[in-house]
Amino acid sequence: MPHKIAQIRLISSHPEVYEPCDDSFALVDALQADCKNLIGHRPNICLEIGSGSGYVIASLALLLGGEAWRPYFLATDINPHALKVTSETLKAHGVHAELINTNIASGLEARLAGLVDVMVVNPPYVPTPEEEVGCEGITSAWAGGENGRTVIDKILPVADKLLSDKGWLYIVTLTANNPSGLCIEMKKKGYESRIVLQRSTEEESLHIIKFWRDPEALLEANEAKMSNKAGNGNAIGSLLSQLSHVFMEK
Ligand SMILES: C[S@@+](CC[C@H](N)C(=O)[O-])C[C@H]1O[C@@H](n2cnc3c(N)ncnc32)[C@H](O)[C@@H]1O
Repeated sequence: MPHKIAQIRLISSHPEVYEPCDDSFALVDALQADCKNLIGHRPNICLEIGSGSGYVIASLALLLGGEAWRPYFLATDINPHALKVTSETLKAHGVHAELINTNIASGLEARLAGLVDVMVVNPPYVPTPEEEVGCEGITSAWAGGENGRTVIDKILPVADKLLSDKGWLYIVTLTANNPSGLCIEMKKKGYESRIVLQRSTEEESLHIIKFWRDPEALLEANEAKMSNKAGNGNAIGSLLSQLSHVFMEK
């Protein structure tokens, strides 16, 4: 039997809140396609950054809701109207999440560091002038700044702090965001990745990337850091030895 997701007719709305769109549907389809793995993963804490209408967090709660154990769901949004709409959407589906009006996950780091098992994000990813990023109202739903990466580049280090050792991150990106470049950057932090869904619409080519910590990638990342440090150490050593020669010659 296909797992239940949120129903469009039960999604609440507000003129200043992003309505479920191709990107939201792609993210939920990716979660649904990975549902068996998600259930087997037995997440304790699930977090959505930027919940908008609540379509994604309600779907995730429904996908994982029928099991004997219940994850704890949280969602943030910088737009206060979005949290009201998310709350109505969750209520209409009979599911619950703690809702927090904040920038990404500001103020939650101490409470959630290393504890989030599943994080889902459909960020503002559209390339726009930088000054549109973080604007009040609906513009902040899509304005992603240069290459659409301004908000994404702030979310990834937060995800790295909050994800548990077994944590998974699902994030929506666009070709213009350079998804393979994002995977390479996350590899340097010890994450493996896979594009779990790719979908081209009339307007954009969407990629849903799944990231997870990988012990081998972590080892490689640590080795690279160590050899960088050693490289810097050698450079400093050789500089000092050159300086000592200069002083000895004087
Ligand atoms: C593309 S919409 C996605 C909404 C919903 N998750 C969906 O998939 O339909 C991006 C959402 O992120 C929110 N947002 C933008 N910048 C944010 C930030 N810095 N911190 C938290 N939420 C943010 C916007 O208000 C908007 O609701």
